[in-house]
Amino acid sequence: MSADTPETLHVVVTAGPTREYIDPVRYLSNESSGTMGFAIARAAAEAGHRVTLVAGPVHQPTPEGVTRVDVVSALDMLAVLEDVFPTADAIFMAAAVGDFRPAEKLSGKWKKKEEGGDAAALHLVENPDLLATIARGKGRRKVIAFALETGDGERRAAAKLVRKNADYIVLNGASALNAKSSTVTLIDPNGIVWTLEDTPKDETARRLVELLVPAHSG
Ligand code: CTP
Repeated sequence: MSADTPETLHVVVTAGPTREYIDPVRYLSNESSGTMGFAIARAAAEAGHRVTLVAGPVHQPTPEGVTRVDVVSALDMLAVLEDVFPTADAIFMAAAVGDFRPAEKLSGKWKKKEEGGDAAALHLVENPDLLATIARGKGRRKVIAFALETGDGERRAAAKLVRKNADYIVLNGASALNAKSSTVTLIDPNGIVWTLEDTPKDETARRLVELLVPAHSG
């Protein structure tokens, strides 16, 4: 195949936070806006790929030509990924998946008086690592992970790349959360591939989508 007749791939993108309910009105979540994942979904669709976007609760319009599946919790997201990943050629795991969830969701509102003391304790259990779970049987599929690190980022991100059986990991600092631009470093098993300093997420997204081409041209 020549470079100017690109293949249409099925690209799965996850985006946004997950939300883990404590009771009908309270939940645990994080600051992720979904901007990076939505930008990747848009860039992949514009590059001619078939895109499934699995989105946590965010206020983002669905990019044109993208099939969107909305989810709430990490376990919801895992169920959708187990469904769509077998037919995917690549996944960008940009979602900020919650690491923990309440051991149970209360059916009624959590009442202060029922706690019987000054402090209330919330019993949490660990969510599965979605990426590690699906990437275990990835075969030829390209897996692009993300890492948000606050210190010694490159070493930690490189360790996550191996632990999660990913092909690449995109390292961000905490300033990337809820921002339109960010500094990102792309890491593969051999080390740093490139760094984009203070770059709009749309531009970073296009660079990331370019990673799909070499894997399928040979
Ligand atoms: N991830 C996932 N499932 C989780 C946690 C993270 O699939 N339960 C994915 C994220 O979508 C991201 C990558 O794993 O692509 C790294 O996420 P990060 O939060 O940086 O890593 P953690 O494994 O949660 O490690 P830690 O909290 O110790 O930094």
